[in-house]
Amino acid sequence: MSDLVKPAVLFSKEEIQERILDIGRRITADYDGSDVAMVGILKGTIVFMADLIRAIEQPLTCDFLNVELAKDQRIEIAFSPETNFRAREVLLLQDVIDTGVTMNFILGHIQEDWQPRSLKVAAIIDREDQRKIDCAVDYACFKIVEDGFVVGYGLDSEEQYRGLPYLGMLDRKKTD
Ligand code: IMP
Ligand code: MG
Repeated sequence: MSDLVKPAVLFSKEEIQERILDIGRRITADYDGSDVAMVGILKGTIVFMADLIRAIEQPLTCDFLNVELAKDQRIEIAFSPETNFRAREVLLLQDVIDTGVTMNFILGHIQEDWQPRSLKVAAIIDREDQRKIDCAVDYACFKIVEDGFVVGYGLDSEEQYRGLPYLGMLDRKKTD
């Protein structure tokens, strides 16, 4: 038997599906038929991407990007696709946007390196009130102010909980 704590339900499977359909409709309308280059940041966006691409009714491609924290705590690109995104409409998927530091770094890198025509952000969880640096989220499934660590629906705590079908909340660890 696993001794993992069962997270409290923050948003149910049904609530998530409702938001995915809504965002999918908005993306379909906003891009109006132009080819979307969706790029998911690993690994927290795998479930989000799987659902969202089925809620968008227009051409799109899927790629993945990964970042890591270097020893000096600086964020670095750990994995970047070989795909040419120049002059394309890039839609970046992120699991949680909290202080905005991670996303801000990624956006800067993409603008400079890939030179897309447009660059937008979709996130599962947006903690707008925690920003330390400006970071606009174009499509947020859920904006939350609750304290705690969100897991499930692809999101992990030390690599656990990604397979939970709902978004759950754990008490934030005292060391965080
Ligand atoms: P930021 O740089 O402070 O915006 O942090 C964003 C990154 O921290 C996300 O990509 C997540 O991987 C991680 N993160 C922050 N809060 C949570 C959470 O509540 N659950 C899971 N991951 C989180
Ligand atoms: Mg994580």
